[in-house]
Amino acid sequence: MAVTKEQVLASLGSVASPHGAPLPQTGTLSEVVANDGKVFFSITVDAAEVKAWESVRKRAEEAVRALPGVTSAMVALTAERKAGAGAPRAAPAAGATPHGPRGAPRGESVQGVPGVAAIIAVASGKGGVGKSTTAVNLALGLAALGLKVGILDADIYGPSLPKLLAIKERPQTLGGTRLKPITRYGLTVMSIGFLIDEETPMIWRGPMVISALTQMLREVEWGTLDVMVVDMPPGTGDAQLTMAQQVPLKGAVIVSTPQDLALIDARRGIAMFRRVNVPVLGIVENMSYFLCPECGTRSDIFGHGGARHEAQRLGVPFLGEVPLHMSIREKSDLGLPVVATEPDGVHAKIYRDIAANVRDQLAGAAAARPAPKIVIEA
Ligand SMILES: Nc1ncnc2c1ncn2[C@@H]1O[C@H](COP(=O)(O)OP(=O)(O)OP(=O)(O)O)[C@@H](O)[C@H]1O
Ligand SMILES: [Mg+2]
Repeated sequence: MAVTKEQVLASLGSVASPHGAPLPQTGTLSEVVANDGKVFFSITVDAAEVKAWESVRKRAEEAVRALPGVTSAMVALTAERKAGAGAPRAAPAAGATPHGPRGAPRGESVQGVPGVAAIIAVASGKGGVGKSTTAVNLALGLAALGLKVGILDADIYGPSLPKLLAIKERPQTLGGTRLKPITRYGLTVMSIGFLIDEETPMIWRGPMVISALTQMLREVEWGTLDVMVVDMPPGTGDAQLTMAQQVPLKGAVIVSTPQDLALIDARRGIAMFRRVNVPVLGIVENMSYFLCPECGTRSDIFGHGGARHEAQRLGVPFLGEVPLHMSIREKSDLGLPVVATEPDGVHAKIYRDIAANVRDQLAGAAAARPAPKIVIEA
């Protein structure tokens, strides 16, 4: 029988906080979600006490996993700058992390993921510009170049990979603690969407952003990868900034449509990564132009070329342009990404060329920075 919220809370009574009180009485717990054997909740604590609480988080997870009927348990630890009176914040608690106030550069504490040579983010300042579509086809393009590639869906508010890769199954647990990622089209795939149901309330998702991300990086059996592509949530707010700080990124690919408005957001995205010392590998112009499937006439719906021009202006590489095309959208929505399902087509070639540019930029970034030294801003 599936476990209930009440059973979860009862089991947490045996877990003591660093101050000795039973966990449910500390006022730090979010709503407990117990759904079909999968249990999630977060513990929100003062940033200064995060270290002391990490073992509490672990013990809470173990206590819940030991309950009959629990198939997976995920407990997120979130820090608040001020000691909260209990209830987790509705908005992402990302600006207040154990790594300091928002805007702080990445510290030396950002560790790599064992076995993963390079992690790159696919990001944009604006939503809906085609990040996820680009991330999937870029990952497949990198794989087509002979690299071993994984893809991580970090968009906790709107995970896309289950749909874009037509994945319905749930990841299996290995040894009760680590998750086995899903393999699709040769990619190793993990998405928060595999773990939470779409109905899970936003109010609950907010506080778990960073811990969930850390767990997806470190408690998943990624194996050996040349590149992990991270599909980021849209925007340049606290949540995104903190993600950029928390994930050991080797670089970021910015996706933009050509028009001015999207470019303003792309600029914000670039500024965000620069602020946390993550090299911008370049800009992809998506929905760059439209080729009429009937007559072959080309229309520059969003004013083609804006991103290339902007890349030049900002001194970042231009990685390529992807047309607005019905088959890209249709195939994406069906979970049949063009690079995997139409490898001889013109769009697959475009994405492979972009992937080759990304690979070259990564190699360049590595060569330019032989030691993984992180510059700390004054
Ligand atoms: N080059 C393209 N041609 C046609 N359709 C596209 C193209 N790129 C993306 N799309 C479509 O645009 C929509 C948004 O794309 P996608 O989900 O990749 O954007 P996103 O930036 O990840 O969005 P979000 O900000 O919500 O995460 C999808 O329906 C996708 O199929
Ligand atoms: Mg997306």
